[in-house]
Amino acid sequence: MPSSDILDNELLETNSDGESFDAPSAVIRRAPQLSSTPDVDRPVSMKNVIGNAPGFVELYAMVDRVAHSQCTVLITGESGTGKELVAKAVHEASGRASKPFVAVNCGAIPEALLESELFGHVRGAFTGAHATKLGRVQMAQGGTLFLDEIGELPLALQVKLLRLLQAHDFSPVGDTRTIKADVRIVAATNIDLEAAVAGGKFREDLFYRLNVIHLTIPALREREGDVEPLVEHFLKLAMDRCCREGVTVSPAAMRLLESWQWPGNVRELENTIERAVILCRGTEIEPGDLPSRVRGLGTEKRMGSALPDAGVDLRDAVESFENGLIRQALDRTGWNKNQAARLLGLNRTTLVEMIKRKRIATNVA
Ligand SMILES: Nc1ncnc2c1ncn2[C@@H]1O[C@H](COP(=O)(O)OP(=O)(O)O)[C@@H](O)[C@H]1O
Ligand SMILES: [Mg+2]
Repeated sequence: MPSSDILDNELLETNSDGESFDAPSAVIRRAPQLSSTPDVDRPVSMKNVIGNAPGFVELYAMVDRVAHSQCTVLITGESGTGKELVAKAVHEASGRASKPFVAVNCGAIPEALLESELFGHVRGAFTGAHATKLGRVQMAQGGTLFLDEIGELPLALQVKLLRLLQAHDFSPVGDTRTIKADVRIVAATNIDLEAAVAGGKFREDLFYRLNVIHLTIPALREREGDVEPLVEHFLKLAMDRCCREGVTVSPAAMRLLESWQWPGNVRELENTIERAVILCRGTEIEPGDLPSRVRGLGTEKRMGSALPDAGVDLRDAVESFENGLIRQALDRTGWNKNQAARLLGLNRTTLVEMIKRKRIATNVA
């Protein structure tokens, strides 16, 4: 039997009551077309933003309230949590919606080019400046300028940005004129800006200017109940992209998705679903269609008890042997942890801890 078929039978039970999920008829089918998203009061601009966890409901209310003001918004959250999506929602809910939303990733553009990228330059401003170039600030006139990874903005440019925020004007590189700018700034970062201020890497005055309204997006692992509606959402998108129809997620696969920690947050989930839609052979995504880190319990290298010529890493080998037995016990009992623990001569708590520890130890690399 190929190993993916073994994995197909895996169920990762996430509820704490120790019940097993035995007969397939007893488990819930997740139909992607039937969104399980309850009616949360959300602004129209947030229609593509999925999330019902408490931190998110607060976010909807905040976006609605701040969008119409001109004030600067700072969005913080780990990478992949949806900062840019929320920045766009702020723009779309504002009176600037019909004007451009221009994004600049301050961490992705080399320092030497960033100033001209933001503020533009005049012809002859520096070697290679053959023509006048419009900066992103000017492209965003009347609209919103989204400054992603603001923590990476070099100190020299922080001064220019502060001027833009305070005096609403700027000068292109090599130009003596100042140009008026009517842009709303939304900035985002996944670093601790206060720590950057304390470390002298970020100007305190700029920090306070940016931090007028602070929106925090919680990490996906902290958002209870959000994985399933996100999976349904991305399933629809992936089916459209791959020209597939009627793909569903098996209950076993859904349980794995719900119990994974998602260090890459929503972006990682989105990629995982797209990959699964491409890989799945039938119309149901099975655990075998998910990456091994999501399937959990690390790898089991199939190795006999003979010592290979090249030697082994003993700890690795023991771990792998242990994982294999735990996996078999769980599979045999339909992931009933009480019964599986008994088969392994462990008590249930120890088994639960082992499952948790192994997932963390082997997956968050
Ligand atoms: N709550 C959400 N609902 C729907 N899609 C989301 C959500 N959060 C993030 N995404 C999607 O995940 C991906 C990463 O989001 P992004 O805004 O780029 O994250 P960040 O800027 O925090 O790194 C994007 O494709 C985005 O559309
Ligand atoms: Mg981003």
